[in-house]
Amino acid sequence: MEALTVAVLMGGTSAERAVSLASGQMVVEGLHQKGHRVYPIEITADGFWRNREKDVLAISIPCSVMEALDPIPDIVFIALHGPMGEDGTVQGLLETLSIPYTGSGVLASALGMDKRKSRLLFAGAGLLVPPHLMIQDHRNIAETVQSAENLWGYPLVVKPNDSGSSLGVTITRDSRQMPENIEQAFTLSQQVLLEPYLAGTEITAPLLGNESPKALPVIEIVPPGEFFDYRCKYNGLTQEICPARIPSVQLDHAQQIAVTAFVLLGCSGFARADMIISQNQIYLLEMNTIPGLTRESLVPKAAKAAGLSFSDLLDQIVKLGLERWH
Ligand SMILES: Nc1ncnc2c1ncn2[C@@H]1O[C@H](COP(=O)(O)OP(=O)(O)O)[C@@H](O)[C@H]1O
Ligand SMILES: [Mg+2]
Repeated sequence: MEALTVAVLMGGTSAERAVSLASGQMVVEGLHQKGHRVYPIEITADGFWRNREKDVLAISIPCSVMEALDPIPDIVFIALHGPMGEDGTVQGLLETLSIPYTGSGVLASALGMDKRKSRLLFAGAGLLVPPHLMIQDHRNIAETVQSAENLWGYPLVVKPNDSGSSLGVTITRDSRQMPENIEQAFTLSQQVLLEPYLAGTEITAPLLGNESPKALPVIEIVPPGEFFDYRCKYNGLTQEICPARIPSVQLDHAQQIAVTAFVLLGCSGFARADMIISQNQIYLLEMNTIPGLTRESLVPKAAKAAGLSFSDLLDQIVKLGLERWH
């Protein structure tokens, strides 16, 4: 590919800001290696755009966006995770500015961020998803907890509807822990999901492509603790086995599920589908439309197993972004 001017968007206002800064740094280095002219833009914790090369911290958001996007890039590589980055908002802003960007478009990004809405689509297409009950705006907490206890018993998983990196996700074994865990999830989302704990093997399937995405090798995740929590995701102690040690029919099935889910949401570029195999059935947990790109991250690992170096992977994502745009 010819050398391009790429602005890498990182940081942001979400709880996953630190992860995004780590992803962004890796993306800058990787694209640089490929000979692109790369400049980092950090969205500060309070939402200002800052072109790190120029280091001007503009005062108002509308003018700072254009100030930061200078020179006008051939494409923006969005290395943001979580709300206000992975959820279609930044994608919409770039659409209105007519600037190409990597990854999924507005609708797919918004759907991917919303676990409940994306699951409705997945289930509608016959994919197996965990059952859940939702608590909205702190209403009916006691009744919903009671229903979840009656339906599934403990342990129950409490999670924010639209966060990531396992932030706010807890496995609750006792009704006395519920109020605190629910409150914690509410600090990250207006909607909190309660679902049964699915014991089994956790796997994840990265995807690459636009209309006809290809699944990369499936990775099995073996966290040292109870589940794949925020710490385990980034401390290097989790075993990530690629390809997953599951029968090849199940590997194929997991890849099919991931591809179907990608197409259903209308994703583009790259994504990663999280799944759990429990009692021999594959449950689709969620689709991540901007999966992590840090040193510890799963997509680069799967790409490597498929013979694609980290910088090759980034080059592909950029190429797919431009293809989609044109
Ligand atoms: N129903 C469940 N049963 C067992 N473990 C779960 C369940 N839901 C989530 N987990 C664990 O929590 C982690 C994060 O959940 P996930 O739905 O993928 O949200 P996030 O967007 O934070 O990654 C998963 O990787 C898994 O380890
Ligand atoms: Mg996940």
